[in-house]
Amino acid sequence: MVIERTGKAFGIDIGGTGIKGGVVDLSTGELIGDRFRKDTPQPATPAAVADTVAEVAGNFDYKGPFGVDFPGVVLGGVVQTAANVDASWKGTNLVETMAAKLPGPVTALNDADAAGLAEARYGAGRGHNGVVIMVTFGTGIGIAIIHNGQLIPNSELGHLELDGHDAETRAAASAKEREGLSWEHWSKRASKYLQALENLMWPELFILGGGISKKPDKWVPLLKCRTPLAVAQLINNAGIVGAALAAHEATLT
Ligand code: BGC
Repeated sequence: MVIERTGKAFGIDIGGTGIKGGVVDLSTGELIGDRFRKDTPQPATPAAVADTVAEVAGNFDYKGPFGVDFPGVVLGGVVQTAANVDASWKGTNLVETMAAKLPGPVTALNDADAAGLAEARYGAGRGHNGVVIMVTFGTGIGIAIIHNGQLIPNSELGHLELDGHDAETRAAASAKEREGLSWEHWSKRASKYLQALENLMWPELFILGGGISKKPDKWVPLLKCRTPLAVAQLINNAGIVGAALAAHEATLT
């Protein structure tokens, strides 16, 4: 199937610290105008987050499809896991919660999946066939598996067991902060994680994302793994762009 990528859609990226949104031009994957960001309310309950999402969207003169991404598994619009966010999200229907506040149909997906979709179509994964894995190093480790440009959603391989621990507690960017690790030390952990992942999945490319990929020179050259590496290109906006793309594709099916 040839996916038509024209027109625009609105993408919203729900994160632990910020909620960002903007209108995306789907022919280029670029934002039309500026994005708008608000701090994530604390506690980040579904009702409080929905109000903030409405405020973000309210800054735009836009009606149409909305894509919303979330840092947990989203199945059939319902949040299944909440590793790094308020536990009350588990079992919440993200699509219905947001649709009540937004002027258009809502599609919901995992945050890393949104970022991976955006990178695969418009960024570092463009033109790559085979299995491409996006790894976002942030508060947690997010994974998106893309095969021939198509997303295989909700892979939670950031929680692989590494030396008896949940990998993200050792190798996420937050572990570097929390434990005050040097770039060298943290890169060893990230390498170990990538090696475990490549031994299971044998991807053709890793795309490295998350906030820490804004400073790739500090750590990417230190990584040791067999899979070719590419640094994310859409960095700050990957979630917004991928969510908008998912919303647009949902209107085509
Ligand atoms: C969650 C994933 C999410 C990742 C990045 C992990 O803790 O389980 O669903 O994609 O963090 O936010």
